Amino acid sequence: MITILPLLLLCVCAPARCVFQKLYCTIADSCDCDFRPNVRELEWDLYKNVFGQHLAQEVLSEEVARFLAQEAPEKPLVLSLHGSSGTGKTMAGDMLARHLYASATGSPFVHQFIPTLHFPAGGHVQAQREQLKSWVQGNVTECARSVFIFDEMDKMAPGLLDVLEPFLGPSHVVFRTNYRKAIYIFISTAGEEVINKAALEQREAGRDREEMTAAELQDAIARAVYDNPTSGLYNSPIIRQKLVTAFVPFLPLCRHHVERCAQAQLCQRGACGRRDVARAAAADMTYQPSPGHYFSTSGCKSVPAKINLLL
Ligand SMILES: *[C@@H]1O[C@H](CO)[C@@H](O)[C@H](O)[C@H]1NC(C)=O
Repeated sequence: MITILPLLLLCVCAPARCVFQKLYCTIADSCDCDFRPNVRELEWDLYKNVFGQHLAQEVLSEEVARFLAQEAPEKPLVLSLHGSSGTGKTMAGDMLARHLYASATGSPFVHQFIPTLHFPAGGHVQAQREQLKSWVQGNVTECARSVFIFDEMDKMAPGLLDVLEPFLGPSHVVFRTNYRKAIYIFISTAGEEVINKAALEQREAGRDREEMTAAELQDAIARAVYDNPTSGLYNSPIIRQKLVTAFVPFLPLCRHHVERCAQAQLCQRGACGRRDVARAAAADMTYQPSPGHYFSTSGCKSVPAKINLLL
């Protein structure tokens, strides 16, 4: 019975959430109706469409592959994405969700939190903590393989996220709800000084950017985030207890990376041939630091607007 049930239900509840799907997910302790991870596609997508981020590509693909290879993970996967604005953090988070679930970010099991929307400043932090906790509990109970994405953590009240601490550790199975299969993604610009400094030193020493390793940045990013009052993880037990699986560095972008962003944008608009526009858009950005001007201050962020002006 149990073996044919999933097949039946899969057909019945094709695109969206439904009673049968919920029932199946409860029985199976995972949302296999919709959970169709494809690590190779994720890897390829990151490689092809997130420019200049070999560290993020490596760490994200490796950690996701390692996590998904475990039948019964010992703890949830917690990835914390850091780097300057416009370097591709949000895009990478979306890609991750897209290649885990058949129905992408529209999946009922991918939960995206935007602080300004879900936890507005000036709100009652204690009430927000309770709310967040009950959302995560409710969602993981419904689907053990839930994905939670917290973007713009810099705008989150300090201490709010700490309410998740019990769920991120190794020992949480309560009333048959398995908290160890969930995936959490934190996104913030905190730690950018550390990452940008390392990239600059690499550059000034005449070494290849691609020779940088994520391992050498882990501790420094963790410390910077822990010490930063607006990181969303200020003084957080989540960092103290090493509950973050990996800190994922996004490097500052050089001019040729920005040009590739512009080129990709142009192709999306059916203007692949306008290399002149891609070059002009990249040339029109601000680059720092003052002697050298190696890195774009806004990454790929203002590329679409620039293209609008130039086309
Ligand atoms: C799951 O999280 C969403 C927020 O993304 C919330 O609106 C919803 O109520 C939660 N579901 C449960 C069952 O708690």
